[in-house]
Amino acid sequence: MPEYLIKGGTPLCGQLAVHGAKNAALPILAAALLCGRSVIHNCPDLTDVAAARNILHYLGCSTTQRQGTVTVEFTGGGDYRIPDRLMRAMRSSIVFLGAVIGRYGMAEVSMPGGCELGPRPIDMHLAALRKLGVQIDESGGVLRCTTPKGLHGASITLPFPSVGATENVMLAACLARGETRLSNAAREPEITDLADFLNAAGADIRFASDGSILITGVQALTGCEHRVIPDRIAASTYLSAAAVTGGEIILTHVCPDHLSAVLPVFEEAGCTLVCGADTIGLQAPQRLNSLGTVRTMPYPGFSTDAQSTMLSMAALARGTSVFIETIFESRYKQVGELVRMGANIRVEGRVAVVEGVSQLQGAVMSCTDLRGGAALAVAALAAKGESRLRQIHHIARGYENFDLNLQKLGAQITRV
Ligand code: UD1
Repeated sequence: MPEYLIKGGTPLCGQLAVHGAKNAALPILAAALLCGRSVIHNCPDLTDVAAARNILHYLGCSTTQRQGTVTVEFTGGGDYRIPDRLMRAMRSSIVFLGAVIGRYGMAEVSMPGGCELGPRPIDMHLAALRKLGVQIDESGGVLRCTTPKGLHGASITLPFPSVGATENVMLAACLARGETRLSNAAREPEITDLADFLNAAGADIRFASDGSILITGVQALTGCEHRVIPDRIAASTYLSAAAVTGGEIILTHVCPDHLSAVLPVFEEAGCTLVCGADTIGLQAPQRLNSLGTVRTMPYPGFSTDAQSTMLSMAALARGTSVFIETIFESRYKQVGELVRMGANIRVEGRVAVVEGVSQLQGAVMSCTDLRGGAALAVAALAAKGESRLRQIHHIARGYENFDLNLQKLGAQITRV
């Protein structure tokens, strides 16, 4: 099993181009099932993207991936049932449900099990799809979906602005009869990117001033060419790594607007930021200040995905920082490993109180999940001595060339 060997203590310096967003690429790949031929640029090379391509092959699409461009063509002859092994290969495979129903009028998928961030239920997805005319039979861990009267538009209000449920409604409703109004929808930049992709392929999706999404069903979607937005989470990870090591970096191919709730926390910690149209420069002090109180929220609030790596910053900052996680139940799983490095962190339910220490010691650690794994790498980059990071397949789900990118910035990290 590959591992990362990380020798801490080198301030990260230099320039890095950030890859396309995983969380935008995955629903767009699902949406490509509804289209003819789609050319998707800036698609990151990740294991989750490979898993999504495998699902597409099964569903009747051919795909190619060359230098950041994935081409998807619906060729037919596929199945409307996604086998359990493919569903399990990617945590967010549930986003294919709306697309499969839109394409085939029916779908059969296994229920996603619990995941590393908590139970991650899909009740909102299912309730919304039922409103669109989907009959769902849940038995034996399998969801069997049919549309006896076809998909039709509906007025739907989500109890919580779930990203995945919003995407599934958009995917199922864009080919439904009539208009759908989705209220309390998620507003993440990845949602807008999915809408941009679908609209370029012929869909009719608009955002109302009250935040709801209006989807007027169309007869068919054609193909289109689309460029995936930059990965705001990868950007915040590299900024955290530079900040915690007292470094100075410039990120290119980023969208600073998408990080508007996250960047002020770097400033609170004493970093100097200079943002251009698609660049972010960060200069860190020798030692970070406390991050204050960080509360995760749906976008445009502070992203839960950025929380993990910034908690590693807090572990070495001067003073006390408090994190309140409002989105996922189990987002502090890496804390046990940080404590083994010498961090002083107390977790009670959704709150983590971090008393910054002046030094962390390198250790042998295991990644617990995608962002938690990146957070351990960030801490190891700043720790004294060498760390060995295991279970790094979690990191490959969401970061392209993680070790090579950090090496570019001068980090001593090798994959062994
Ligand atoms: C997506 C992102 C993930 C991000 C999260 C929140 C992808 C591939 N993943 O995940 O990186 O951290 O948004 O920004 O885009 N919930 C229910 N019932 C449902 C659906 C959700 O209770 O039917 C709960 C979840 O358990 C969670 C919360 O709602 O506690 C938010 O989930 P959601 O916004 O749906 O996140 P994901 O789409 O899974």
